[in-house]
Amino acid sequence: MSDVKAAFIGAGGNAHGHMERFAAVEGATIAAICDINEARAGEVAAEFGAEAYTDHHPMLDELDLDAVYVSVPPFAHTDAEILAAEKGCAVFVEKPVCLEMSKGLEILEAIESNGVLSSVGFQLRLLDPVNRAKAWLADKTVGMVSSHRWGGLPGTAWWRVMEQSGGQLVEQTIHQIDAIRYVTGDEVEEVYAQYALRTMQDVEGLTIPDTQAVLFKFKSGALGTISTSPMLTKGGGKGDIVFLLRDQVFELGFGGNKLAPETDEWLCADPEPTPNIDEVFVDAIRTQNQSLIPCSYREGLMSVDVVLAANKSAQSGKPDGSSAAQDGRT
Ligand SMILES: NC(=O)c1ccc[n+]([C@@H]2O[C@H](COP(=O)([O-])OP(=O)(O)OC[C@H]3O[C@@H](n4cnc5c(N)ncnc54)[C@H](O)[C@@H]3O)[C@@H](O)[C@H]2O)c1
Repeated sequence: MSDVKAAFIGAGGNAHGHMERFAAVEGATIAAICDINEARAGEVAAEFGAEAYTDHHPMLDELDLDAVYVSVPPFAHTDAEILAAEKGCAVFVEKPVCLEMSKGLEILEAIESNGVLSSVGFQLRLLDPVNRAKAWLADKTVGMVSSHRWGGLPGTAWWRVMEQSGGQLVEQTIHQIDAIRYVTGDEVEEVYAQYALRTMQDVEGLTIPDTQAVLFKFKSGALGTISTSPMLTKGGGKGDIVFLLRDQVFELGFGGNKLAPETDEWLCADPEPTPNIDEVFVDAIRTQNQSLIPCSYREGLMSVDVVLAANKSAQSGKPDGSSAAQDGRT
């Protein structure tokens, strides 16, 4: 018997992974799939035995749903989350949850005033090494954090367009920002960013920077730097989050943490398996327990706030405050 029915808005690569995991949970059913690309909607709906839609309005009007997933490109968040929340559905929204704070705050208000569960796809929060890092750092003073995300250029056309994706920091490297916020429990108070287009001028349709350097000041007084680039189109790269403490360097690794000089065996132990984020979402719906979900919409929006502040700083050439942290919206 099906007791949790969901619809999906956006049926791209990422949504498909959620669909597979969601549909594998006993009692969870995908009732409908909506994508503005009619062929894609039809093909994926047929795969999951669901109804196909190309507009989420009739879908949300006609169906009785428990949950709605929204996995569309960053610029395409409009009213889907709001309408779903007004219908009392739990919402799962992919990161980055918006490209404008005003839109994100409108969605947040709909979620919170309707008292519905919310989840954002920051799955790193479920990883054992991340949670071990959080526990280990809890009683320590971080001086600095340094992070890199150097990799290749995704094939998706919207990803290369600044107005559609927000650039790599917003679209991808927000995972690192969110993980740093989560493990330290600290908030970014001020951001200073410089962006450049250095090597990828020849890539057709590309309007994002290929070189982004960001300096953060946290509420605690700790400092952080992130550099991110998609210019390694032939493979290779670097992805890390390293914390500098008095007499110790702590490297958060998604496959296991490293500490130098090594003093705590458990930091390097084999990680426990990662819980399935969609199974966690279904459990939270069944028990109506938001605390099972690692990242609420509010928390996901706070990470967006930081990366959008970086974009504003890069544009103005001046430091920018991260308003979520300043308003104490925790
Ligand atoms: N959490 C993660 O690790 C993770 C991984 C990959 C992608 N994502 C996020 O998932 C989102 C989607 O990424 P993707 O890689 O699946 O992109 P994609 O381009 O493969 O798919 C997006 C789909 O949304 C559809 N779409 C666009 N506007 C729509 C609308 N208004 N209504 C319905 N459908 C619409 C498109 O036609 C397309 O099929 C992005 O925000 C991305 O950052 C998250």
